[in-house]
Amino acid sequence: MRDLMAITARPEVISLAGGLPDTATFPPRTFAAQMTKIAQESSAQALQYGPTEGFEETKDCILEVMGAEGMLPDPDDVLVTTGGQQAIDLVAKSLIDPGDVVVCEAPTYPGAVPVFCSYEAEVIQVATDEDGMRVDELEALLERLRGEGRRPKFIYSIPTFQNPGGMTLSLERRRRLVELARHHEVLIAEDNPYGLLRYGGEPLPPLYHLDGGDYVIYLGTFSKILSPGIRLGWAVAPPPVMEKMVLGKQAADLCTSTLTQYFVREYFAERRWLEYVGSLIDIYRARRNAMVEALERFFPPDASWTVPEGGLFVWATLPPYIDTTDLLAKALREDVAFVPGAAAFIDGSSGSHSMRLNFSASDEDVLREGVRRIGRVIDEQMTLFQTITGEHPVPRPPAHADEEAEQAPNVLPLRRRAEG
Ligand SMILES: Cc1ncc(COP(=O)(O)O)c(C=O)c1O
Repeated sequence: MRDLMAITARPEVISLAGGLPDTATFPPRTFAAQMTKIAQESSAQALQYGPTEGFEETKDCILEVMGAEGMLPDPDDVLVTTGGQQAIDLVAKSLIDPGDVVVCEAPTYPGAVPVFCSYEAEVIQVATDEDGMRVDELEALLERLRGEGRRPKFIYSIPTFQNPGGMTLSLERRRRLVELARHHEVLIAEDNPYGLLRYGGEPLPPLYHLDGGDYVIYLGTFSKILSPGIRLGWAVAPPPVMEKMVLGKQAADLCTSTLTQYFVREYFAERRWLEYVGSLIDIYRARRNAMVEALERFFPPDASWTVPEGGLFVWATLPPYIDTTDLLAKALREDVAFVPGAAAFIDGSSGSHSMRLNFSASDEDVLREGVRRIGRVIDEQMTLFQTITGEHPVPRPPAHADEEAEQAPNVLPLRRRAEG
């Protein structure tokens, strides 16, 4: 992933690989006005260390964000962290001893994989379908582990607009997941960076809301609703866990950036943050639609993909003879990038025909062009497969091919010899 991100930083590469929100949508004037106000009114404090737990004013902003999804935690249970990523790290650091079992979804957030591995957890992934984690499989797993005298330290889940799968855990499964956690006395780490970025359908209650915070540790972030550059996230955990997480945070970085906590405080004081989230929703909905239309046009008929009701990602699955890690190398030669599915599986052995595609960071034309380029590389692979095996993959309907030739933006007609 690190190598991939380095390559995609090249300006000529269309990156559908990252998970970047479009920070160009944030008004520079608002940013400038707030930073100026901080410099004029609170310079010394904003440049100083702060409490490890975070400022009370930052927690007030966090409570507003969680309130928008129906949650009302006790501020004493909230820890302000350096991004949502640190919140995942602190949960893992506080709870995992080498060899402990951690359960997560298959596929899961690629950035969580190295965290669990670095604390030497035994990570077990539970299959997902269009309704999120297969909670029946989780139940069987918990029973099996109980038979072996083992209990997972926690279940890591992204129930809403999952990264990378794009799917959302159904209400029935949410209820069952919380019940199972209580029954087996296992903590759940609910990671919810995308819950407020909904483009359709009805909101579902977070696991934290259903459980009331006894067994669910909640992880949030300002990255996708405001800015990832400010590196501000949070964790909400029951007191015995929170105590360890605060110690872990002190060891890691003493405190979260004071300056960016001041920025969030000023920004929320304007009381327009939900308006900004609303504008992001409009932009990302149009981009999701453009990506899905482009997939229909440029991907082979035997490919499939999720159409997420929110979040930032589409998960596409190709015919089984196409390995997306190999495909990525070829796509990069065409200056387009995606995340190969294997990155979302602990041992990299599954997901080899799938890819994660991000639609938030590019406008509609760029998305279309990116998907067209990937579609072209897939076509080449399919032709190669056909040449080697003699088998004919499902043919693309001819109308698509014509349209594609007509509309391909960077195909220049060759001059004829007679024209000199
Ligand atoms: C599911 C999930 N958790 C955590 C993070 C990390 O977020 P942050 O930028 O706040 O560290 C991301 C970032 O993409 C994510 O997708």
